[in-house]
Amino acid sequence: MHAQAHPIPQTKPVQMNGAPTSNRKLLNWVAEIAALTKPDRIYWCDGSDAEYQRLCAELVVAGTFKKLNEKRRPNSYLALSDPTDVARVEDRTFICSAKKEDAGPTNNWMAPAEMKATLNKLFDGCMRGRTMYVVPFSMGPLGSHIAHIGVELSDSPYVAVNMKLMTRMGSKVLDVLGPDGSFVPALHSVGAPLSAGQKDVSWPCNDDHKYIVHFPETREIWSYGSGYGGNALLGKKCFALRIASVMGKAEGWLAEHMLILGVKTPEGKKHYVTAAFPSACGKTNFAMLIPPESFKQQGWEVTTVGDDIAWIKPGADGKLYAINPEAGFFGVAPGTSYETNPNCMESVKANTIFTNVALTPDGDVWWEGMTKVPPAHLTDWQGKDWTPDCGRLAAHANSRFTVAATSCPSLDPQWDNPAGVPISAMIFGGRRSTTVPLVTEANTWNEGVYMAATLGSETTAAITGQVGVVRRDPFAMIAFCGYNMSDYFAHWINVGANVGRASPKLYCVNWFRKNDQGKFVWPGFGDNMRVLKWIIERVEGKASAQQTALGHIPDYSDLDWSGASFSEQTFKAITAVDHSQWQQELALHDELLTKLDYHMPAALQTRYGALKETLTA
Ligand code: OXD
Ligand code: MN
Repeated sequence: MHAQAHPIPQTKPVQMNGAPTSNRKLLNWVAEIAALTKPDRIYWCDGSDAEYQRLCAELVVAGTFKKLNEKRRPNSYLALSDPTDVARVEDRTFICSAKKEDAGPTNNWMAPAEMKATLNKLFDGCMRGRTMYVVPFSMGPLGSHIAHIGVELSDSPYVAVNMKLMTRMGSKVLDVLGPDGSFVPALHSVGAPLSAGQKDVSWPCNDDHKYIVHFPETREIWSYGSGYGGNALLGKKCFALRIASVMGKAEGWLAEHMLILGVKTPEGKKHYVTAAFPSACGKTNFAMLIPPESFKQQGWEVTTVGDDIAWIKPGADGKLYAINPEAGFFGVAPGTSYETNPNCMESVKANTIFTNVALTPDGDVWWEGMTKVPPAHLTDWQGKDWTPDCGRLAAHANSRFTVAATSCPSLDPQWDNPAGVPISAMIFGGRRSTTVPLVTEANTWNEGVYMAATLGSETTAAITGQVGVVRRDPFAMIAFCGYNMSDYFAHWINVGANVGRASPKLYCVNWFRKNDQGKFVWPGFGDNMRVLKWIIERVEGKASAQQTALGHIPDYSDLDWSGASFSEQTFKAITAVDHSQWQQELALHDELLTKLDYHMPAALQTRYGALKETLTA
């Protein structure tokens, strides 16, 4: 995918006076941004299937997309990004609150006026030679009281088509917005203007300047220089987490980095569970879990509401209700197979955009882990010839698929319910080879908040930087909380106090314990159902557990081992609370609490003190 002649756009431009909305705020903003960025054309996305097909065809002409073999992977495309633009750029991500302390020590900060001055210079003329796509989208079911509208202005047609799969996008959103409705303005440019006659490249981006900027007080997003994933699909991390977390704090709800799944018990009772994990900890696999055969025979069923983000609001009955603000999955491809996640493989069988995976000679896709035996010959994610012995990855470790939620065979019937689904339990997990037990139930909401606040995880490829070091990732939100983390903890404590007795039970899990040989001990995937069943039975008051220094932990006999050969001894090893390891762990908690001491809730300090006393006794 090398430089191509700049394609003649097929997309019919719509003049501002023909804009498909009478919303003054939107019209003014589009006019203002067009005056600043100076695109050649403005195009209002209607979100129709015909438009999606047309834009995809244009992306093929531009060399950004390759159409995959229609027989093997119908209506699907492969995009290969610039090799420098392959992941979210956390070091270039900013929360520009008026006061630095409102962004807190876990966010990059710059004064709003200074940042606006920098951005205004960069955005001046940055869309020259390109089309500015106006992409209206709803995060959450259209018209839901938990949902919110955003509008992304982007000079990337790749963004427009991905937003069609990832959100409810187009004219229907403008209808809900109406003449006076408000929206979150989300401005995006790849930062690569074209001068007259200049050839475009297949993946324009800006190597020198990248800025992913949030203004929490005015609830605006400005993103410059990258076309990849969360840097560019602004509904996802930028809006649904960073800006929405700020909105939730002000309005009494939660915007969380959580999957949502449904569990039906053999008695036919339906529960919904959320689970927060740092990036690339197998959230999509857990969200699409298929129970072991013996559980299916008993009548257990798992369904998917969302794989990445949950917006959670107290309902009139005092319970917490969650929606998935997204309408699609932007998942990590490597490691996904018919063994690890059949529902996901079925989801991406057709109608999918793949980014940075490898291409097979017959026009299909492949990534590490998809099959046990790799194909003999591929074109890798950089467009180079690849053979199994060449020493390079065929697919980038952070390569992705984008697919609509409606393609998922395990999709829950309530996934699009505007009222949301009632939450019975919330799970927090990290990737920890030692120390943290397989599962722990918090005794109280606030003890659960402490568990979540002190979550740690070994880093992976979804973020740039070193792989395999433990970083503290409170609530899996370290990269996604739009305000001061200690204020966020306080908000969680307040939400729990308001919900009171109807609050979900909180759990900490760790699927990633390793043995002395460095091998994972817990089988994970479908076997996580054994832990999930115990959680549901705890919620229903049916299962027993042992009280430990950390909270309630099941005994071997408390889990259903039907169809498994997991030994009691190994189970004990991964559920034991090793006091010497925990002393080291608590020293790291202390470091975190000190770093986040601004507005740190007293309840968390108290819990730290109590743990220290018990675990060092
Ligand atoms: C994601 C992430 O892409 O968390 O979901 O990085
Ligand atoms: Mn995520």
